[in-house]
Amino acid sequence: MTSCQGDPVALVTGSSSGFGLLTCIELALRGFVVIAGIRRMETAGKLKDAAEQAGVNARVHIVQLDVTREDEVKRTAAYIKNQHGRLDVLVNNAGTAYGGFIEDVPAEVWQEQMNTNFHGMVRVTQAVLPLMREQRKGRIIQMSSISGRIGFPGYGPYAASKFAVEGFSECLALETEPFGIDVVMVEPGAYGTPIWDKGFTQMSTAPGSPYQTMLDKVLAFSQKSAQQGGDPQEVARMVAHIACKKRPAFRYALPRSTRLTLGAKAALPGRLFQRMMASVLRRS
Ligand SMILES: NC(=O)c1ccc[n+]([C@@H]2O[C@H](COP(=O)([O-])OP(=O)(O)OC[C@H]3O[C@@H](n4cnc5c(N)ncnc54)[C@H](OP(=O)(O)O)[C@@H]3O)[C@@H](O)[C@H]2O)c1
Repeated sequence: MTSCQGDPVALVTGSSSGFGLLTCIELALRGFVVIAGIRRMETAGKLKDAAEQAGVNARVHIVQLDVTREDEVKRTAAYIKNQHGRLDVLVNNAGTAYGGFIEDVPAEVWQEQMNTNFHGMVRVTQAVLPLMREQRKGRIIQMSSISGRIGFPGYGPYAASKFAVEGFSECLALETEPFGIDVVMVEPGAYGTPIWDKGFTQMSTAPGSPYQTMLDKVLAFSQKSAQQGGDPQEVARMVAHIACKKRPAFRYALPRSTRLTLGAKAALPGRLFQRMMASVLRRS
């Protein structure tokens, strides 16, 4: 296991479950002081238990952080500056996934999706950049997705939010590089975390929707992908590895099937790739 030097400080958003929780433990095991952002304190038990079990509870500090709330974001950034005086790594992980066919998804769902996955990331990044700039050092790890590179039917709101994350991160990387701050994107395919039991199960079509048959196929495909998906620990280990790595790459896609799909998209003409995706869905 690669360890980081000194007593580095990391902020991880969305730490109550899934990748965020596991990342907090992996970072603490590598010597980080971890500020774990959780939006609902009543859900902090799982992280506390995991930290206790791993013997790192003294290194994991839980703060209330809903990334859609400007006041909580600012308070967290001020707390880190005052208590720790440094922030080495930000893991912008908090996210939700809403699905549905574009014609059927109500405006408030689009707004909610963008507010969490995209504007939330912008808020937290803006709040910590002054400290990272002052220290002339920092690393921002963005939890993107294969859905930030490829649009699947039924994933419109989620893909839009993750494509926004990708564009934002490309600009951010060039803007912050002169200040010693680097930006890295992690692009996982489907992993079996609790995210699939949240927004995606609420994916619905309007009554009499012409998309119903396709929706059934997309739901079946998504459920199968999540069940067969890799171990979420793999993603957490990757994030911790990136956090400690001297010169990380800009993008990390995992597992291997994600890299293959992205490779196919890059290599094939757009229409051919779309036909390939449609045929995979038809067969699911
Ligand atoms: N699992 C996958 O297959 C997959 C693939 C690619 C990318 N990702 C990305 O990985 C990240 C983590 O997802 P996960 O799979 O680990 O799912 P998860 O277990 O549901 O974790 C999502 C975390 O984000 C938190 N969150 C949601 N809205 C928030 C808000 N407004 N403010 C602060 N925290 C908020 C959740 O808190 P609550 O417990 O309160 O809901 C939870 O702690 C997400 O950005 C997701 O898009 C996941």
